[in-house]
Amino acid sequence: MSGEEAPAQQQTPEEQKQDAQQNEEAKQEQSKPAAEAPAEKEVEEEVFTYRSLVLSGYGGYDKVKLQVKKGMPSPKTGEVVVRVKACGLNFADLLGRQGLYDRLPSPPVTPGMECSGLVEAVGEDVTDRKVGDKVIVLSRSGMWQEVVAVAASHTFLMPEGMTFEEAAAIPVNYITAYMMLFDFGNLRPNQSVLIHMAAGGVGVAATQLCKTVKDVTIFGTSSASKHEAISAMGVTHPIDYRTRDYVDEIRKISPKGLDIVLDPLGGSDTHKAFNLLRPMGKLITYGAANVLTGQRKNLIALAKTWYNQFSINAMSLMHANKAVCGYNLGYLDSEFEMITDVVAKLLDLFKQGKIKPKVDSTWHFEQVGDAMRRMQERNNIGKVILLPEPKKEEPKTEEAKKEEVKKDEAKKEEN
Ligand SMILES: NC(=O)c1ccc[n+]([C@@H]2O[C@H](COP(=O)([O-])OP(=O)(O)OC[C@H]3O[C@@H](n4cnc5c(N)ncnc54)[C@H](OP(=O)(O)O)[C@@H]3O)[C@@H](O)[C@H]2O)c1
Repeated sequence: MSGEEAPAQQQTPEEQKQDAQQNEEAKQEQSKPAAEAPAEKEVEEEVFTYRSLVLSGYGGYDKVKLQVKKGMPSPKTGEVVVRVKACGLNFADLLGRQGLYDRLPSPPVTPGMECSGLVEAVGEDVTDRKVGDKVIVLSRSGMWQEVVAVAASHTFLMPEGMTFEEAAAIPVNYITAYMMLFDFGNLRPNQSVLIHMAAGGVGVAATQLCKTVKDVTIFGTSSASKHEAISAMGVTHPIDYRTRDYVDEIRKISPKGLDIVLDPLGGSDTHKAFNLLRPMGKLITYGAANVLTGQRKNLIALAKTWYNQFSINAMSLMHANKAVCGYNLGYLDSEFEMITDVVAKLLDLFKQGKIKPKVDSTWHFEQVGDAMRRMQERNNIGKVILLPEPKKEEPKTEEAKKEEVKKDEAKKEEN
């Protein structure tokens, strides 16, 4: 597949100019005399192409473009090359697309913090990975492509019975949920926990991990349509935060408050979280989902969340008998021993059948906009997965054609 076969995306005049220049260069390359042709091995390496998703600039769904890159990545010392089979989509990728995630380098950049796949080549000094190993990968960015070169220490062997889709759903969601509940939260039997976004990636992981401890009461917020699903996964009290005041609902059931509140929302919700804690309770704040309100950056939502940020002085904290913790996996990237230890525990729980990633849906790279839309429009239950392999063309029914026209029109209107 060539770059030209990638799905039509809206391009800026600047991008069109760049494309035209690249095509011209490609033509000139093809018409070079044989004497100038590179050695056979070089040709072989040069013709290797792979699909990669690239964030071309900040903005809407169309800013993530499918590109074809040239040249097989080769592993440096301590690295492996992985043939990627599945990648995870995270909330941070939605923020990153809008320029709101500071751990993602500036565009043009390939996003993606996690994937799974097969080791295809091993660099010098790598003794614990071999060609053919099935691995889970965690990285700061760059995983949304068909092949990646990564430090072997950032890979973890997949256990028997785990699918590539499940494996790609493990790192970000489960490490985050585990470290918050057990390292900061010190979750114990008979305690109570509030999990916001309970039907999402981290939410499902946190619910499953709470269920590994005896008699934990789980309050979970989500859209009403997801309540049946989150109850089935173990949420004791599902709350529709869109039509109810979740603080009132929790107080009715648990007047004394909660032992642990996980806060992925930020702004005024962090204050609510702190007030919902009982003495000796712990607030773990780990996100600012409230800043995301649409396809593009919303300065009003940003300002509101920033203005309502929670702060407390040491004396008030002491008198309240509460703990406030902040968690960000993106800033733990130099703590690989710590992460490796947590992943080992998670894979053990998987082997025992105590946790199992819930895959909401899978999307091929060319459908990345629709995958992002699914999460951003609050429709996912569990993890949204991206697949590098091209989507197989199926003969279109009349119904599908009409649906496509409708979708295109909706997209045009949005733009
Ligand atoms: N600090 C860290 O290291 C870390 C790591 C991973 C994730 N996180 C944070 O954890 C949260 C969940 O992340 P995730 O990747 O697992 O995503 P996710 O929960 O799968 O996100 C999508 C779901 O969140 C809910 N939601 C609530 N507010 C939303 C909003 N403003 N826009 C869109 N959806 C919203 C929607 O479901 P309902 O409306 O039905 O609830 C939606 O289906 C995010 O805040 C993320 O930044 C932090």
